[in-house]
Amino acid sequence: MVYDVIVLGGGPAGYHGATLAGKKGLQTLLVEAKELGGVCLHSGCIPSKTWLQSAKIFAHAQNGAAYGIKAEGLSFDQRRVTARKNKVVRILNAGVKTKLQNANVQVVTAKGAILGNDSTGFQVKAGSEYYTGKNLLLATGSVPVIPPIPGLAAGLEAGTVKTNAEIFDLDHIPASLVVIGGGVIGLEMAAYFSAVGCKVTVIEMQDRIGGEIDREIAGILHDNYRKKGVDFKLNTQVTAVDGPRVRFTSPAGEGEVEAEVVLLSVGRQPLLSGFGLENLQPQMDHGRLVVDRSGRTSVPGLYAAGDVIGRSMLAHTAYREAEVCIDRILGGTEEVNYEAIPAVIYTDPEVASVGETAESAARKGLDVQTVKVSMRYSGRYVAEHEGGDGICKLIVAHGDRRLLGVHLITEYASELIYGASLMIDRKLTIEEIGKVVFPHPTISEIIKEAALQYGSI
Ligand code: NAI
Repeated sequence: MVYDVIVLGGGPAGYHGATLAGKKGLQTLLVEAKELGGVCLHSGCIPSKTWLQSAKIFAHAQNGAAYGIKAEGLSFDQRRVTARKNKVVRILNAGVKTKLQNANVQVVTAKGAILGNDSTGFQVKAGSEYYTGKNLLLATGSVPVIPPIPGLAAGLEAGTVKTNAEIFDLDHIPASLVVIGGGVIGLEMAAYFSAVGCKVTVIEMQDRIGGEIDREIAGILHDNYRKKGVDFKLNTQVTAVDGPRVRFTSPAGEGEVEAEVVLLSVGRQPLLSGFGLENLQPQMDHGRLVVDRSGRTSVPGLYAAGDVIGRSMLAHTAYREAEVCIDRILGGTEEVNYEAIPAVIYTDPEVASVGETAESAARKGLDVQTVKVSMRYSGRYVAEHEGGDGICKLIVAHGDRRLLGVHLITEYASELIYGASLMIDRKLTIEEIGKVVFPHPTISEIIKEAALQYGSI
């Protein structure tokens, strides 16, 4: 039998693409070596959100006095937190299996290898079986970047250094944690461990945390966590890891910090080797697969979606990339609008953003204006906050007054940012946004407030 589509990899890109293909009536085979769900479900998005929810409840109980709540005898049980995380993962894993079953997707649990392609299609070996597919969707994901820092490999081997793949198995809270890399994973884990009593140090080689997020918001987040006791070492390079010691060079000179656990979170890279991709020889550029906005590679019938592309390593990007691949296989013309993909850092407060920042707009030579409002313009924010330094920023094209970017630091930011994505995707002007009716009182109203303030500039 020749399948219409063979999907390699069962993470968000793979299972979503396969489900969609199956629902559309395509004969679909999904090959996954491990459990369905990928990094997102097993060692990324879902475990971290489950842990962070426990940390949030703990922090609320600890900090309730200003709200009239006094809690005594509080304790934090990491074993139970992790057991609950495992339960949540099991529930969602079962959900993925059911979706695939309902879409008539055949799932093979084995490591897949691409053998080549000919006029009949792509040949894939999985376990001891051979399969042929007219189309092949690569959804093999990504692996952590392991920089060549002396002692790092030995630390990973010994288990004193962990990546996101190992950290979620911790059944106790270490006394101290050094996080190498102040990006998304580093910040979410710093948020968790610092909330539950661990001494956290974040070492970041850039002059800011949070990568490409709005610089001012990165500063606010930095201040929030500095006040909560996290020690940030910016402009700092790790030079060696020696057992529990992490040596570094900072603007102040050489130094070292000791930690029970070291978390390495300096980025991820596409997984492109070890499964026979070289047998198809797709076009590559500086080690990256060349893929258009519809997931097409240079090999007809070979598509890619998710982290393996390396363009926007987010589960929701993976979903959309998989959708456009299946649309193309069915003869459609859809493309991913990368300009309207939201990104979230699930710290407390959360950071959410979509579109251009003032910095990225300047790099592109775009003529933009920025409006910034304090979150304290939101009645709900004030009602729920003693203090609070959240902000909302809109980036607007100077000429046609279209919205190009939205950046927030506040609770619920993750839940409201999709609205901003839609506004950007649909090319709404600031006047059109000013006329949208938002529920009151909500945090989301801040976008209307900012639009109205912009209108009066
Ligand atoms: P990242 O790219 O977000 O951050 C890596 C950070 O490490 C950067 O700030 C970089 O400057 C720094 N860095 C690199 N080399 C370093 C070195 N030798 N010493 C010190 N600092 C160094 O990567 P991260 O946090 O590992 O996350 C990986 C991927 O997972 C990202 O693509 C991210 O988008 C995704 N992810 C998304 C989440 C979300 O959407 N909430 C949650 C977790 C991960």
